[in-house]
Amino acid sequence: MEIRYIRDMELQAQKAFIEENRLLLQKRFGHPPRAMVKSFGCAQNVNDGEKLAGMLQQMGCSFTESVEEADIAIYNTCAVRENAEQKVFGIIGQATHQKASRREMLIGVCGCMAQQEHVSEKIRKSFPGVDLVFGTHVLHTLPELLHRLLTDEGKKRHRVFETPVCDGVIAEGLPTLREDGVRAGLPIMYGCNNFCTYCVVPLVRGRERSRRSADILAEARQLIADGYKEITLLGQNVNSYGKDLQDDMSFPELLEAVGNLPGDFWVRFMTSHPRDCTRELIDVIARTPKICKHIHLPVQSGSDRVLQAMNRHYTRGQYLDIVRYAREKIPGVSFTSDIIVGFPGETYEEFLETVSLIKEVGYSSLFTFIYSPREGTRAAKMDDPIPAAEKSRWFQQLLEEQKACGMRFYEEEVGSVRRVLCEGKGKLKNGILEGHPVSEGQTVLMGRTERGMVVDFIGAPALIGQFVDVQITTAANWALAGILQTGKE
Ligand code: 5AD
Ligand code: SF4
Repeated sequence: MEIRYIRDMELQAQKAFIEENRLLLQKRFGHPPRAMVKSFGCAQNVNDGEKLAGMLQQMGCSFTESVEEADIAIYNTCAVRENAEQKVFGIIGQATHQKASRREMLIGVCGCMAQQEHVSEKIRKSFPGVDLVFGTHVLHTLPELLHRLLTDEGKKRHRVFETPVCDGVIAEGLPTLREDGVRAGLPIMYGCNNFCTYCVVPLVRGRERSRRSADILAEARQLIADGYKEITLLGQNVNSYGKDLQDDMSFPELLEAVGNLPGDFWVRFMTSHPRDCTRELIDVIARTPKICKHIHLPVQSGSDRVLQAMNRHYTRGQYLDIVRYAREKIPGVSFTSDIIVGFPGETYEEFLETVSLIKEVGYSSLFTFIYSPREGTRAAKMDDPIPAAEKSRWFQQLLEEQKACGMRFYEEEVGSVRRVLCEGKGKLKNGILEGHPVSEGQTVLMGRTERGMVVDFIGAPALIGQFVDVQITTAANWALAGILQTGKE
């Protein structure tokens, strides 16, 4: 495997394109350019989008969330499920209509969808309004790709397609323009080696490659100095961190090192594969106060046969062992999970094993998906006899079961005082602040507890980005409401 570190030299070359693009973009639009970067999918992808925005900012762009206002619109896509892909095609189609009245507008598509050959071919043929298509391994070359678009105008209809296939690169030192000022995603590794049979990620994001711990810790220190209060260490499978590095840290060591940095902040991590979620990791969470007592541990299925067909490399029993150990060592730890319903060949009895597992574990919330066949994966070639309507019924049943057992965790919070990281303004939804009349001039704020539960409360907007104590008074609709105890004014 060859992983290339993109460091100073190559980034210097991109810097030169950034400088030239500043002038070229200004000339093209006749005003300082406005850009829109829309990211879909996982937190990794959002972080990629923040890097694209960072580079565009250096090219003199300001930002808008509306495609009608955008001179440059970039869609950073996700390929995990088909319905998300269809949605993105619809959105891109609408964006290209903008070009009827604004021919100079530039539209780019990148990310996991763009990396797939059949998708880039579809865009080439069916979406002529898209100017630029680039894959996951060349994200850092956006300045160069834009430069190519901006300087080859002599050609009749110039478009740039750059989706090389490779094991992957690591680009250090890219500017990141984060969407949020309170919570930051911090990638520690890229790619995936697991090849779960349903999953397209290894095909579009390349092999596992870890950033050096010194680079990660430096970035974490900077985030804390910049005032971020929550850092989420990101990777498709963070438990494999460091396996490709020599003389560097393992994931538990890295997590502990980040958790022991000075400052008042929380640390989370995503996503942890149960296959190599070790007792050592649980011990680190237990003994490090800044690491949130919440583990997202996607189980996917409760049936050993289905787990094997998914190539997950653990059994239901092994999964339950690690949950039991964590419950023992970390009082009050909460678990969340991803579940796939209707994997090819899954029977109703096997689905019921998933239902019994979610009851046995007791998840505070679940992300549930109906299986979606993905081109190039092994599962896409398996027999899949269960009709879609039947899978939908199973899916509904799972939601009902989860509703019954998940809300218990919310109800148990009522009466306690919780530390909450205030993330922003909240919305009055479904009467969640019932019993707390909101008078004119008062602001509803929202935040999350260490265990990941959303809390709404009334407080001053100046509290956004701070830790506060809230007495929990109500639980409804997967959220809590409460009364601010500290920092009231
Ligand atoms: N179909 C349905 N869900 C999927 N996921 C990944 N691939 C598929 C697929 N082909 C789900 C898994 C994973 C989450 C990010 O998306 O549950 O954990
Ligand atoms: Fe979607 Fe996976 Fe790509 Fe994330 S890595 S954007 S979940 S396909």
